Amino acid sequence: MKVLGISGSPRKKGTTAGLVQAVLDATELETEYVSLAGKKISPCIYCLACAKDNTCKVKDFMGELRQKLIDADALVIGGCNMWSTLNGLTQNFLERFFQFHHHGKSPMAGKPGIAVGVGGGSGKAPAEAINRYFQMFGIRSVGTVRTQGAFACYSCGYGNVCDVSLVQNYLDENGNIDMDFKPDLEKQPDILAAARQLGKKLRSVL
Ligand SMILES: Cc1cc2nc3c(=O)[nH]c(=O)nc-3n(C[C@H](O)[C@H](O)[C@H](O)COP(=O)(O)O)c2cc1C
Repeated sequence: MKVLGISGSPRKKGTTAGLVQAVLDATELETEYVSLAGKKISPCIYCLACAKDNTCKVKDFMGELRQKLIDADALVIGGCNMWSTLNGLTQNFLERFFQFHHHGKSPMAGKPGIAVGVGGGSGKAPAEAINRYFQMFGIRSVGTVRTQGAFACYSCGYGNVCDVSLVQNYLDENGNIDMDFKPDLEKQPDILAAARQLGKKLRSVL
């Protein structure tokens, strides 16, 4: 049994990556983890060239993922919140599942899946969006884990002075950002426990 985990955040070492990996580790099965950070995945271009043979013809990183997705017995898919919705990279990745959505039985149908959502405020929107895709592709949702990650204002360099900063309430007596407030998965044992629980649940349904 093989579980494929995908982090769709543009950040290689962010909270989405950590949470997807926590779920994978807890399955204690054979796993493969792929980060989409730095990878080029175009949106679906609606050319319909996949309709004949269920294979997308757009040449990019999705080509490397196609067979991994087909071969996986279960999927753990994580994305992050951008402008109150699922981030574009994860969205592009999921749009391209159109290639599995034509004649014949979809290779995704019936696979169990776990949705991981992360946001500086909330991971609800990305988690809900991923679960909607699961529903459309016939992926059986086994559960969802979502949490708060560190948003840009902690690391852009201007969070303590910027007009639209979200960390202005978290400054120390010197006017610097108090990093104790920075969300970090290591400070969220309940979320990590929930991720591990889901990993075990995924194993139990395979
Ligand atoms: C362009 C942009 C827009 C964002 N918009 C939102 C938002 O609307 N709501 C939210 O909760 N977080 C938002 N965030 C914050 C990210 O979701 C947050 O940093 C998250 O931790 C990113 O996931 P990662 O840690 O896996 O990289 C935004 C981040 C960026 C870069």
